[in-house]
Amino acid sequence: MAYQNILVETNDRISVLTINRPDKRNALNHATRDEMREALNSLERSPESRVLVITGAGDKAFIAGADINEFEGRTALMQHDAMKGLRVFDAIEEFPKPVIAMINGFCLGGGLETALACDIRVASDTAKLGQPEINLGIIPGGGGTQRLTRLVGEGKAMELILTGDLIDAAHAKEIGLVNTVVSAADLRSTVLNLASRIAEKSPIALRMAKDAIKSAARMNLREGLERERDLFALTFSSEDKAEGVRAFLEKRKPDFKGR
Ligand code: COA
Repeated sequence: MAYQNILVETNDRISVLTINRPDKRNALNHATRDEMREALNSLERSPESRVLVITGAGDKAFIAGADINEFEGRTALMQHDAMKGLRVFDAIEEFPKPVIAMINGFCLGGGLETALACDIRVASDTAKLGQPEINLGIIPGGGGTQRLTRLVGEGKAMELILTGDLIDAAHAKEIGLVNTVVSAADLRSTVLNLASRIAEKSPIALRMAKDAIKSAARMNLREGLERERDLFALTFSSEDKAEGVRAFLEKRKPDFKGR
């Protein structure tokens, strides 16, 4: 499919979705969010794609937030309609395959919200992260107040959102906002290596694991434990489970087909 604002490539079971507006620090305009949703729909159906990596083009920005040009002159009602595009963050969170954010520079506002919707965040040591919306007289609207708070706790989320301050990658790791920090030169190979280790696992088990982990934020403990038990039992219906167990007993590497 021909996209104007993103690039999508799949190699060795790993898809890389790159926001491709480097001159605008990969700011998310309406058209870009629409293309991201289209790409997610198509990758969801593609059996060749087992893990998704999201990143930004160039070496300056992952995503510098929503495209501020689109905010000018916009009324509350117009913004409310435009928010349909914000569902891209929910689409990332609900994507049934693992998603890794490869944070290669400024990761701000809707950029941080994109990263927060991903499952794992790996940042280059040059990255700067923040929710600077408060400086524009607005607040995060793509899940920032909710997902950031769940990830780093209320105190840190308050500090980031109320000050709008940017923090560096080391600080982000310290508060649990990113999983790993590596040099800019090592970022791509580190992420692709992580993605390829995950891509070898059973796609069915990955999907169930992601669903179960996400349930922790959506359900109380009793409901969550029940959901985990159901999903655990469901994995026993897959050919991948039979293959995984057989391969262990035969002392060989499993070949998971996603069935
Ligand atoms: N929306 C629209 N355009 C943006 C943008 C955004 N969120 N972030 C950057 N750009 C554009 C700039 O307007 C500039 O465009 P121009 O060359 O046509 O003037 C271009 O990207 C380069 O930005 P610039 O500010 O010159 O780059 P920089 O490397 O000095 O600074 C940032 C980068 C990200 C720190 C700075 O651009 C910035 O603060 N952006 C806004 C971040 C923000 O508030 N995001 C939350 C939005 S809700």
